[in-house]
Amino acid sequence: MSTSSFLVTGIRKGCARSFRRPFPFSMVQSCLQSTQQPIPAARLPCRVKVSAGKRYAWCACGHSKKQPFCDGAHVKKAPTIAPLRFTPDKDSTVMLCACKQTKNAPYCDGSHFRVIFQDIVKKVKGVFK
Ligand code: FES
Repeated sequence: MSTSSFLVTGIRKGCARSFRRPFPFSMVQSCLQSTQQPIPAARLPCRVKVSAGKRYAWCACGHSKKQPFCDGAHVKKAPTIAPLRFTPDKDSTVMLCACKQTKNAPYCDGSHFRVIFQDIVKKVKGVFK
């Protein structure tokens, strides 16, 4: 990555204040960490029964082995992505996002279709290489 594209990426991600002074390594490193993206844990949502008043921590980074809930894996693998805590109002069965691309976290909003489509495009491009 060139320096200018690195700067643009950092500024776009809200790291502009990190670049007002010379580039200490820790600032650059913290900026790089803030650009971490969640990884899809699965391509389809998880159907889960939730209880009213119980607190849940939905995995937002995609590294948890207990999908769709957090197991603390973000501490080492994605320290800038915290789990989303939520408390349902009533007992119900919900579809929790596992692709980690939803705009309505922690619930599935259909964004996983885009992830599936991107996977297909990558496979097709691989065939014609
Ligand atoms: S599983 Fe993520 S939006 Fe459906």
